Amino acid sequence: MNKVEALVFDLYGTLCDVHSVAAACDTRFPGRGREISVMWRQKQLEYTWMRSLMGCYENFEKATYDALAFACRQLGLELAGPLQQELCDAYLHLAAFPEVPSALKELQARDLKLAVLSNGSARSIDAVVTHAGIAPYFDELISVDEVGIFKPHHRVYELAERRLGVARSAILFVSSNSWDATGAAYYGYSTCWVNRARGCFDELGRSPDLEVPHLGRIAPALHAAVHPA
Ligand code: LAC
Repeated sequence: MNKVEALVFDLYGTLCDVHSVAAACDTRFPGRGREISVMWRQKQLEYTWMRSLMGCYENFEKATYDALAFACRQLGLELAGPLQQELCDAYLHLAAFPEVPSALKELQARDLKLAVLSNGSARSIDAVVTHAGIAPYFDELISVDEVGIFKPHHRVYELAERRLGVARSAILFVSSNSWDATGAAYYGYSTCWVNRARGCFDELGRSPDLEVPHLGRIAPALHAAVHPA
């Protein structure tokens, strides 16, 4: 792996737990919260990919809103407009995974540039990282809105390289979404896959340079890469 000067993080599912919305869903649809949040997330992602392919970009908040409508219809649950907005607002208040603040603090202390690169709109990213209490760790919060297409399109990874002023080969891209780490690897970043769920990496022709069970393992893994035993 090349020398790392900057770490670029995916947001949803990597720094913050998208399934923390399950609790809000559960209060409105008792016993169905997790099921809703799983289908909601899957459809949200599919809508971003389809909109990118079809060339009809609408921002992430719209994908989130529409995906919730689909998930509830599919699950036979009635979703009134105000409730749809209330649950989408819960997506602006996701919880950070427990180890995230201390892991970011440790990486920041190593003089690395830290950034978020997310499919979220600038407003969503700002709301989520502020609510999660992790905003102060980042030099840049970068939204795909600027390029009008979602990850894993190469223009998105190019945007972060440009905004940070760091060559792609010196960027470590960190994501728990293996399709996202794959897109970053094809663009030329080094990649770190956060495999909290002990899943399998996608079969898309690339493997991550690092694999960690949570963010707290990144600093030691970087140290080991630079100082092999
Ligand atoms: C993001 C989604 C893809 O934050 O997790 O970009």
